[in-house]
Amino acid sequence: MKIKTFYIKTFGCQMNERDSEIMAQSLGKFGYQPGTDLYEADLVILNTCSIRAKAEQKVMSLLGYLRKAKTKNPAMRICVAGCVAQQEGGRIIKRMPHVDLVIGTQNIYKIGTLIEEVETTGKQIVTSLEDDYVIPHVLPEIAITKSNDSSMDDSIAPPAYAKFVTIMQGCNNYCTYCVVPYTRGREVSRKNNDIVDEVKVLVRSGVKEITLLGQNVNSYGRTNKVSDSATYNFSNLLRDVSQVEGLERLRFTTSNPKDLTDELMQCFKDIKNLCPQFHLPVQSGSNAILKKMNRKYSVEQYFDHVEHLREYCPEIALTTDVIIGFPGEKDEDFDATMKLLNDVRFHGSFSFKYSDRPGTVASTFEGKVEEIVKSERLAIFQKRQDKISLSRNQEYVGTIKRILIERCGKDGCRGRTDTNHIVHLENCSELKGGEMIDAKISHAGQHSLQGVTSK
Ligand code: SAH
Ligand code: SF4
Ligand code: F3S
Repeated sequence: MKIKTFYIKTFGCQMNERDSEIMAQSLGKFGYQPGTDLYEADLVILNTCSIRAKAEQKVMSLLGYLRKAKTKNPAMRICVAGCVAQQEGGRIIKRMPHVDLVIGTQNIYKIGTLIEEVETTGKQIVTSLEDDYVIPHVLPEIAITKSNDSSMDDSIAPPAYAKFVTIMQGCNNYCTYCVVPYTRGREVSRKNNDIVDEVKVLVRSGVKEITLLGQNVNSYGRTNKVSDSATYNFSNLLRDVSQVEGLERLRFTTSNPKDLTDELMQCFKDIKNLCPQFHLPVQSGSNAILKKMNRKYSVEQYFDHVEHLREYCPEIALTTDVIIGFPGEKDEDFDATMKLLNDVRFHGSFSFKYSDRPGTVASTFEGKVEEIVKSERLAIFQKRQDKISLSRNQEYVGTIKRILIERCGKDGCRGRTDTNHIVHLENCSELKGGEMIDAKISHAGQHSLQGVTSK
C-alpha cells in the first residue's frame, strides 16, 4: 500500500503552531507520514490566521496556487484549518471549490476521522464551533533526535528542546479590533493535572523549556473548574508546572494587562525556573484609544505593572504589541504611544497597522486613519524601537549569560538566553542542541547577541 503524505503550512501565532503538531500526531495514527513538498503531498493542510487582512490574503493566494497542483494530481486533498477556516466556514468552499475540508479551531483533534470521511464519501466537509467545548487531553508523542542541525532558519516554530503547551482556548474579552473571540470561541481552560502530565511527558523526552499558551493566560481557570480547589488560578499552575523535575525554563504568553495580579508578578521573584521575560501587550499609549479598544486598563495602570515587575525581577525583559492607527487615533494619541515606548524602553515590540476585521466592533467605527498616515506612524515607531532594542541589547555586552543551545552547525551555534534573546556563538561546533552553557556576550545587534564560550 502506498504511504500517504501530508504537509502542514502554519500561519499565525504559537497556538496554531501547537495545533499543527496535534494534527500531525493525529494523522500519524491514520497512516499518514510527513512529506517534504507542499505541492507533492497527498494531503495539504493550511493552518490559517485571520488576525489581520494580510494574513488572510496570503492563505487565499496559496489556495489559488494549489488549485493548479490539484488539477495535475486530482487525488490531492486540501484542508483549510485554523482561524480563517473558523471564520469563513463554507464561504471558503464557495470561493475555492477545490478545498475538501474546512476544519474549525476546535475540531483539529478529529482531523484523521474527518479526512477519512472525505475519502470514503467524496464529499466536502465544513465543521464549526461547539457550545460546551472541552479541550481533549491528548498527550504528545515526541522523540527528540535532532542534536546537530545546521539549518538555522528563523521560523517561529520552537526548536526541539523548547515546546509549547496550550493551557486554554478561546477568549471572552472582545477587544473591539480582534477576531479571536469569533475564531477560537469562548474561553475554556484545561485541567491542571492534564497540563502537568503533558509537561512531564515532554520533559521526559528531553524538552528543557516549556511555554504555556493561551490568549489571556492571566484568566486561567476563571470560566471552568480546573482543579479540586475552587480558587486555583494561573499563579498556582505556574508553581505546579515549575516543579516538574528536569524543567529548566518556563515561559508563558499572552497576558492581558487588565488581569495581571500582584500574585502573578510575585512569581517572577519566587519561581527559579520562570524566565525573566514578559510579553505584555499594551496596544496603545493613549487612554482614549485604550477605551475604544475595550482593553479595560489605563496607561497609568500599565506603568504600575511595569514598575512592580521590575521591582520583583530587576532583570526582566519586557516586550509588547502595539496597534498603530486605530480608528480615531489622532497625532496626540500617537505621541502618547511614543511617550510610552520611550518611558518603558521595551526590549522589543511587535507593531502592526490597524486592520479592519469583519464582524468586529471597531470595523464599524468612524474616523478610520488613512493608510499613508498609518504607514508613517508605524515607520516612526519601529525606527525608535530598533534604537531602543539595540541599546537594551548593548546592556548585555560583557555579561555572562546562560544559553540553551538550539542548533549547532558548521557556522557556529545558536541558542537563547533566559530573557529570550537569540545568541550566536562562534567556534563551538562541539555543542549539542539542548545543552545549557555559559557564554560571555561579546557583541550586540538589533535583533540578536553574539557570545563566546570556552567550550
Ligand atoms: N491575546 C493577545 C493578542 C493576540 S493577537 C492579547 O490580548 O494581547 C496578537 C496581536 O495582534 C495583538 O496583540 C494586536 O496587537 C494584534 N492585532 C489583533 N487584531 C488586530 C487588528 N485588527 N489589526 C492590527 N493588529 C491586530
Ligand atoms: Fe483578542 Fe483581546 Fe482576546 Fe487578546 S484579549 S485575543 S486581543 S480579544
Ligand atoms: Fe491568528 Fe488565530 Fe492566532 S487569528 S494570531 S492564528 S489565534
